[in-house]
Amino acid sequence: MKVTVIGTGYVGLVSGACLADVGNDVLCLDVNPEKIRILESGGIPIYEPGLEEMVKRNVAAGRLHFTTDVARAVNHGTIQFIAVGTPPDEDGSADMQYVLAAARNIGRLMTDYKVVVDKSTVPVGTADEVKAAIEDELRQRGVNTPFSVVSNPEFLKEGAAVDDFMRPDRIVVGASDEQAIHLMRALYSPFQRSHERLVVTDTRSAELIKYAANAMLATRISFMNELANLAEKLGADIEMVRQGIGSDPRIGYHFLYPGCGYGGSCFPKDVKALIKTASDKAGVELQVLKAVEAANDAQKRVLSGKITRRFGANLAGRHFALWGLAFKPNTDDMREAPSLTLIDDLLAAGATVTAYDPVATHEARRVLGERDQLRYAETPNEALHGADALVIVTEWKEFRSPDFDLIKERLKQPVVVDGRNLYDPAFVRGLGIEYLAIGR
Ligand SMILES: NC(=O)c1ccc[n+]([C@@H]2O[C@H](COP(=O)([O-])OP(=O)(O)OC[C@H]3O[C@@H](n4cnc5c(N)ncnc54)[C@H](O)[C@@H]3O)[C@@H](O)[C@H]2O)c1
Repeated sequence: MKVTVIGTGYVGLVSGACLADVGNDVLCLDVNPEKIRILESGGIPIYEPGLEEMVKRNVAAGRLHFTTDVARAVNHGTIQFIAVGTPPDEDGSADMQYVLAAARNIGRLMTDYKVVVDKSTVPVGTADEVKAAIEDELRQRGVNTPFSVVSNPEFLKEGAAVDDFMRPDRIVVGASDEQAIHLMRALYSPFQRSHERLVVTDTRSAELIKYAANAMLATRISFMNELANLAEKLGADIEMVRQGIGSDPRIGYHFLYPGCGYGGSCFPKDVKALIKTASDKAGVELQVLKAVEAANDAQKRVLSGKITRRFGANLAGRHFALWGLAFKPNTDDMREAPSLTLIDDLLAAGATVTAYDPVATHEARRVLGERDQLRYAETPNEALHGADALVIVTEWKEFRSPDFDLIKERLKQPVVVDGRNLYDPAFVRGLGIEYLAIGR
């Protein structure tokens, strides 16, 4: 099948590469010429395990191409995926300008039947808006070219995106016309060979499914974070509580880890956007989600709170080693990362920081810039030199079993503030390290 993917970011590039990998002829479009230049020269603009090899393999096989040429992109695919960003607007609602610009481009240039697929996370009702925008462009051209609009939200997780796309739990297709459903079924059949994973719904339900999924996951995190803070005050261990409730199959173990707040490009903006859509479009106040968001904002300050309680509100002259910058392991994505809040708080209180991350340092440099108070280390151990404490922000695998003797030796005082509960408190404290974790 001929497929165009509009927007070559985390979702667009992964979708394009995976669709090419099963034999489709894929053209990825982006408005950012630098991204396309990197891809055309054999590089890859983001870190995502397994993606670089897959991109290279499919470029070499002639199944995956990149362009900034909108007309070429619209002309190429019968199926046109819209996978552009939907960042939060100033008021918290999803900014739809990129999605609608992509839709208008299709309407302006299409000459034959297209299935336009909303893959970006978009508010309920967007499929109708995309349809209206394309119809408007066709009307202005005085043509009546047929097209369908499908809502096909993406559930991949950064850090495991290739695997998630190749082996999806479910494929949600929101559509009302048979021709489009038939094409989507054919496109996705290579990804569901063991059993049917396609869930066909109307477009509005498909759009809401995506928000509901992210809102539920964010809720579990904020719930556990609140209980962790409570456990700490009551002298209970949240890790024991987690295991005690996770064993109930109605609850399950997944996504019950307390930490220093959720970040990333999805949960914060999607929770905000759902709250906003509900109140603006339906007059409904989503009380649970408002609390989820407030609890998360507070949780992002939990590490700096522990640090100032331990070292005092004025951190002038204090230096901290920070392990982990990305919002979660196996990605270089820094959007809404808890590390950003922590660094802000520490620098504002007068401290200096040396940070280490296995892959996100270049992105941190881009986002935070070079500052006197903030340095980056090449290795985790290099970051420790002369620090008053080690603060763990992202649970990269390489932090799970560190050399505690070296940590003790290099820190000015052996204090470890762990935002991800990586270690057994009794063991670490037994080594003479002061260990401040979450809810333990
Ligand atoms: N990142 C994730 O883990 C994830 C998972 C599921 C769903 N989503 C959703 O998918 C969408 C994309 O997210 P992302 O993380 O891939 O974003 P991203 O910012 O990494 O990529 C978006 C890309 O679209 C390009 N773009 C913008 N306007 C364009 C246009 N008119 N034509 C062509 N290209 C254009 C941008 O230059 C950028 O490269 C969002 O709605 C997001 O919520 C993201």
